[in-house]
Amino acid sequence: MKWPICRLRGFLGWAGAVAGAAVVGACATVVEPVTSREWKTRASELSQGRIVEIDGKRVQRRYPVFGAPTNFEDWPTYATGSKTYFPPQKAQFPAHLKGDPKRGHELLKNSAKGPCTACHVIPDATVWPAGNVGPDLRAIGARGISDEFLYQVIWDPRVFYGEETPMAPFGASGMWTPQEIMDAVAYLQSLKGNPPGQPEKVTDDKQWDPRTRDVVRPEYGDPLDPTANPGVALTEAIAVPLWSQTGPKGRSCADCHGAIGAPDEKRTLGVIKSMVGVATRYPKWFGQYRRMMSIEDFLAVHAPETTGIELPTQADANMTMSILIKMQSYDMPYALDLKNPNVQAAIKRGEELFKRRVGQRGQACMHCHTERGGGRKFLGGRFLADVEKDPMVNHPYWRTNWNQLIDIRMRFQWCMTPLRANMLPGDAPEYADLETYLVAKQTQRGDRLQVPRLAH
Ligand code: HEC
Ligand code: HEC
Ligand code: HEC
Repeated sequence: MKWPICRLRGFLGWAGAVAGAAVVGACATVVEPVTSREWKTRASELSQGRIVEIDGKRVQRRYPVFGAPTNFEDWPTYATGSKTYFPPQKAQFPAHLKGDPKRGHELLKNSAKGPCTACHVIPDATVWPAGNVGPDLRAIGARGISDEFLYQVIWDPRVFYGEETPMAPFGASGMWTPQEIMDAVAYLQSLKGNPPGQPEKVTDDKQWDPRTRDVVRPEYGDPLDPTANPGVALTEAIAVPLWSQTGPKGRSCADCHGAIGAPDEKRTLGVIKSMVGVATRYPKWFGQYRRMMSIEDFLAVHAPETTGIELPTQADANMTMSILIKMQSYDMPYALDLKNPNVQAAIKRGEELFKRRVGQRGQACMHCHTERGGGRKFLGGRFLADVEKDPMVNHPYWRTNWNQLIDIRMRFQWCMTPLRANMLPGDAPEYADLETYLVAKQTQRGDRLQVPRLAH
């Protein structure tokens, strides 16, 4: 009975299998995963995204580097069972409103309002290097496009460009008022170009302009730079002694997994033989917890269970211990267990999440990290990774401009902030599914695991 039904799932595809939940239930090898609503989070305090009341207002707490607390709980999130984003919506053109091009210009640059200049070039050098996810708008007013069309694009670009457009429905989502959009339209129509019809030159620095730039990927400094990496120093200071520290339960990691030996060329803080290659197989399916777990997720459960020491995710102790363990697999190819049906199911869920619109802005990971989205282009001065080509899961690493470690879940949480979306706790099972989807790509490509280490 088991085999044919599991086979059937393959024939029906995932959508068919979900529709026939009873069929999945009968397939003994695929287990219904736990959700973030059921999972008791072991994330560190600020990573939990708890909703609290401040001055009578419900807000979601977050890391100070993400800005002030916010709340977008009325919009879709990555939580299982979250509502879906509204469908494309045609605008009513407000012909009676008159646009002010000066106000429109300010609105286009306003970082709280878009910013449109994160993706589009206008004759202003404020975003560095200029965004090029969307078309250059420096001469859009010379093209004879109707006001109504421009209005409609800003109201909800999905009407013209389909669900895959990376541009958000700024009007339909309520982020821009009809008057503001009319102001933007008036400004756009004033951009005639110089010479007319041609994008005008804005600065002498050819790296600013997407048309003259000669680098594709900027060298901002490698977050994995082995020569001067505070992340390694922190790992040496925290995780190395922690490995042999006896916890309240009378055991240390070293008691069960062996001591840290002499370093070699790749495992520059010392070799732990039992851990060599382990991290390449994560995220891993744990039947007893009914979920995928990254090394970080697993340690948050395993350390207190075995040693009595708490290792909440996104805390330095967890991230440095994860680095120490991942370092044991440095430069080894990712080896996700692609044959495991529970891993396969997680990859499917992760792919669905990768394409799910979240937040008021209603964008998905795919709207920034695929070729059709912004992948390998510049958004807000940042180079966007393309999930099909670029390694995305080489975390944790030291983030110089924050002066702290960042792991992949903080990265997911951070990517949600401009979308006006509430984040999930860092150790949410849904985030583990997303991570599994990314690691599956890296496994299929033969990418090798990277983490901070010392110079050799
Ligand atoms: C995340 C990137 C992104 C942001 C932010 C963004 N856009 Fe766009 N925009 C695009 C892309 C990409 C297109 C082209 C359509 C496509 O490929 O889906 C586009 C198309 C347009 C067009 C039509 C251009 C043409 O050549 O026909 C206009 C006008 C426009 N955007 C204005 C705006 C305004 C105004 C804002 C701010 C409210 C904005 N965009 C914010 C990505 C973006
Ligand atoms: C009492 C013994 C014991 C202690 C103490 C202990 N572990 Fe474990 N550990 C185990 C066992 C047994 C497993 C295998 C569990 C499983 O696969 O479900 C394991 C699994 C692991 C794994 C995953 C290995 C894999 O192949 O997937 C990691 C990583 C790990 N432990 C790290 C640690 C760290 C870090 C500490 C200290 C905070 C620690 N362990 C403390 C017994 C222990
Ligand atoms: C609105 C665009 C946008 C969306 C949507 C978005 N990201 Fe990002 N993401 C970025 C930007 C910009 C960066 C680079 C920022 C930097 O390095 O400072 C980035 C970086 C990353 C990185 C690190 C890549 C690297 O090269 O180090 C990962 C991983 C990532 N995003 C995953 C995701 C996932 C998963 C989602 C969906 C849950 C997502 N992002 C949604 C804009 C976005």
